[in-house]
Amino acid sequence: MTTDLYCVMGHPVSHSRSPWIHTRFAELTGQQLQYDKREIPLDHFDRSVRAFILEGGRGCNITVPFKFEAAKIASHTSERGLLAQACNTLTFKDGQILGDNTDGMGLVIDIERNAGLSLKGLRLLLIGAGGAAAGVLGPLLQADPAHISVANRTLHKAAELVARHVPLAAQRHTELEAHTLHGFGAPFDVIINATATSLSGASVPVAARALKPGALAYDMMYGPGAQGFMDWAQAHGAVPRDGLGMLVEQAAEAFLIWRGVRPPSSQVLAELRKLMQG
Ligand code: ATR
Repeated sequence: MTTDLYCVMGHPVSHSRSPWIHTRFAELTGQQLQYDKREIPLDHFDRSVRAFILEGGRGCNITVPFKFEAAKIASHTSERGLLAQACNTLTFKDGQILGDNTDGMGLVIDIERNAGLSLKGLRLLLIGAGGAAAGVLGPLLQADPAHISVANRTLHKAAELVARHVPLAAQRHTELEAHTLHGFGAPFDVIINATATSLSGASVPVAARALKPGALAYDMMYGPGAQGFMDWAQAHGAVPRDGLGMLVEQAAEAFLIWRGVRPPSSQVLAELRKLMQG
């Protein structure tokens, strides 16, 4: 039996846990595959993808900074990829490049299944309007919260992101608003940090008045970078959660697309958390 090839492409990519996660998924589901990481020169994305296809690659995950380019080279893009205007999962099939974005679904599954909080009917604050926020707004709307405010340092970017999602929000009967980092109204049940603040070591971008008592405060980062946000959330009576579960669940969604099998993601998340703490 031949071994199917997959990889994660990014720049940088040396820190990526995706090879470990997918290799573990494959072991636990009895799938034969090899999953590597490839650091791609910044101006070589297109040709690197095509070279990987020629080598027999079956699919790849795409990370920073290539998710927007990935959406552009795809011959077909899923609805959630189109809304995000970014893809984190490419599948190579019958000469086509199929683009999808599993980040938002990964976030929603981590919150609803792993953290045990249904988003239905809740008030959400999504902080940020860059690629990370764009990747999750559609799936968050599909979880039927009552309200989502998107707050960003640069208001017009939040307004653009919101405008693109107005038809979906109307369909789901979810109130959707754009604000500055100070302009949002009543406190929220869930706040999600999708800015680059944890990556750069900058302070938490919103005031604690955003938090209802016991709110879930989620940072899409994981590891030491997320600690400042987690400590802030804890100090203000919120329940902190980092993005490690989102990482594993977005990988599980990609694995399902590629292999047609849902891997035991909760088990792999528990193992990865232990590995990172050890
Ligand atoms: P990514 O793909 O990781 O989302 P990005 O597209 O560059 O990266 O977006 C970064 C996000 O973090 C943006 O929402 C950015 O706000 P602006 O749109 O105003 O630039 C936000 N961001 C970065 N540094 C920030 C800071 N110090 N305080 C608040 N927001 C910040």
